Amino acid sequence: MSTVKEQLIENLIEEDKVSQSKITIVGTGAVGMACAICILLKDLADELALVDVAVDKLKGETMDLQHGSLFFNTSKIISGKDYSVSANSKLVIVTAGARQQEGESRLDLVQRNVNIMKSIIPAIVQNSPDCKMLIVSNPVDILTYVVWKISGLPATRVIGSGCNLDSARFRYLIGEKLGVHPTSCHGWIIGEHGDSSVPLWSGVNVAGVALKTLDPKLGTDSDKDQWKNIHKQVVGRAYME
Ligand SMILES: NC(=O)c1ccc[n+]([C@@H]2O[C@H](COP(=O)([O-])OP(=O)(O)OC[C@H]3O[C@@H](n4cnc5c(N)ncnc54)[C@H](O)[C@@H]3O)[C@@H](O)[C@H]2O)c1
Repeated sequence: MSTVKEQLIENLIEEDKVSQSKITIVGTGAVGMACAICILLKDLADELALVDVAVDKLKGETMDLQHGSLFFNTSKIISGKDYSVSANSKLVIVTAGARQQEGESRLDLVQRNVNIMKSIIPAIVQNSPDCKMLIVSNPVDILTYVVWKISGLPATRVIGSGCNLDSARFRYLIGEKLGVHPTSCHGWIIGEHGDSSVPLWSGVNVAGVALKTLDPKLGTDSDKDQWKNIHKQVVGRAYME
């Protein structure tokens, strides 16, 4: 007696099991899961794999995503502690690691997170030798360099998230001060993610109007609107990551 599935579905050709746009996220904490939701809602992957050492949490997070599949197009969501689940990824996002503790600088995190990278990167490369890696764990710029060295991949395939988040926060806070949506507020923060980052006040513009043309002192100590406090808030917020 054939099963319901056998009666319902007859495969005329062999199923293609190789995904074309698989993404793996290593570390399913706050940042990893935010990435997962964005990837699924933006329909960026045909397969999503999650890896973490905290297996109970990993299982729970995976089930939440799988049970929400009705709302996504991604047909396969898998997870495991073993890196075999990440095999054949096109992109691997690394968010695993310890967070900053109160009073601890990003640099204090270095050794703890370098050790974590040493334990995970070789397994990622072994399972997905053609992948690109996006590093998010802090201190992100240093770890991106470390991961590039450990991985042996070309520099063009190991990317750090850098000051992207800082720039997004910058644009939000400019918009908040002006009552304008951040998509119309433009500006960049460059340098190392965190304390030493540099706001480019000369490039700040709202819908093409450079704010420096309205106040040449913008962002300096003598600026009466104290725009530089926005950069202070960007740096301060990063301490809570
Ligand atoms: N670059 C940025 O803009 C940015 C922004 C926010 C956070 N971060 C950094 O991202 C990292 C994650 O932040 P979070 O808030 O998600 O932290 P979190 O504590 O919520 O999650 C970290 C996860 O990593 C896992 N993990 C730890 N060691 C591991 C290992 N060896 N292998 C696999 N998984 C492991 C933990 O089990 C945990 O689930 C931190 O280093 C944080 O500082 C960077």
